[in-house]
Amino acid sequence: MSLKIHTLEDLNLDKVGAVLCRVDFNVPLHEGEVGDDTRIRAALPTLYWLRERGLKVVLCSHLGRPKGTRDPALSLLPVAARLAELIEDEVVFAHDTVGDEVLQLVRELPERGVIVLENLRFDPRETKGDDEFARDLARLADAFVLDAFGAMHRAHASVTGVPKHLPSAAGLLVQAEVEALSALTRVAARPYAAILGGAKVADKIGVIESLAPRIDRLYIGGAMAYTFLKAQGVPTGSSRTEDDALDLALRLIELCSTHNVQVHLPHDHVVAPSFDENAPATVVQTIQDGQLGLDIGPATAEAWQAGLQECRTIFWNGPLGVFEWEPFSGGTRAIAKALAASTGTTVVGGGDSAAAVARFGLADQMTHVSTGGGASLEFLERGELPGLHAIRRR
Ligand code: 3PG
Repeated sequence: MSLKIHTLEDLNLDKVGAVLCRVDFNVPLHEGEVGDDTRIRAALPTLYWLRERGLKVVLCSHLGRPKGTRDPALSLLPVAARLAELIEDEVVFAHDTVGDEVLQLVRELPERGVIVLENLRFDPRETKGDDEFARDLARLADAFVLDAFGAMHRAHASVTGVPKHLPSAAGLLVQAEVEALSALTRVAARPYAAILGGAKVADKIGVIESLAPRIDRLYIGGAMAYTFLKAQGVPTGSSRTEDDALDLALRLIELCSTHNVQVHLPHDHVVAPSFDENAPATVVQTIQDGQLGLDIGPATAEAWQAGLQECRTIFWNGPLGVFEWEPFSGGTRAIAKALAASTGTTVVGGGDSAAAVARFGLADQMTHVSTGGGASLEFLERGELPGLHAIRRR
């Protein structure tokens, strides 16, 4: 399939010594150590590809949202340490992102050497898309590889700015992500189901609007489901709802019915008296005052599993309950298992749902697990991302 973006094979490496590679190392940290290294592992194929060609690799990424100031808790140092373990080789860490000292460190790297720069967002110019910052980053290398799929929806200096100053190409992760997600934007095998969870209805408007003409079934779980239920007059007790999104929820249901999409909302629930891992969990058909819905119920999970078995294409974004807490993880686990058992195409859109399939040990049973949360949604919605646009063949 032609991606119409520059790929690694397009780069003329004759005069290239060092490559700047923008990756998405925005990983969870626990007590100063990497909690989940999925995104670091996802960057390895490109890293190996570049090193096999004798190139020095300058890796840069953001971590969290430090708002343009140095925050030691968001340093990429632990990420560099984890990377060194994964590649079983030395990884140099630069305590800055640009400037003469960093340039000197890059110059001193041996062939195939790897350096990780400090968090790009410690510099306020990164998120502003500042061209001078992009130029300073570009000075560090002779070519640029964009492999930060999870950050491709951000028009930041290291994503859309650097390609203006260096020969640029997509890395192998970006290529794989675009291929897998593009399959969902073209003619997909039917029935085609989307499962959406998570907290905010507003975050999913675009994707529901763009999926509605193409899908046959929409399953809505997570906290978002309570807003949809409340909008339809179903009691939601003390569940978290977005009261300013009730009309929007009705409009989205209406849109689905215009396109003959079956909308499935939970019909039983795992509830608790408070938002607490140790609060007593009970299964109810109707949520009472004083009860919070924290997961879809077992009857809903079973019905959805059966429905999903009939589907040939399934896209899932957002957990269906508080899956990090065992008593409220049943719904998310059941859906993850349904996707794992499916013989159709199954795509999990990053963020929490990717973390959930990893936690249940089912990630390798999906057709594709995206490393991008917001990026995968925006790509499905628009078929384009600012980062992709920056490396398109003209
Ligand atoms: C993500 O985790 O979705 C990406 O790394 C983007 O992070 P951001 O939402 O802080 O830009």
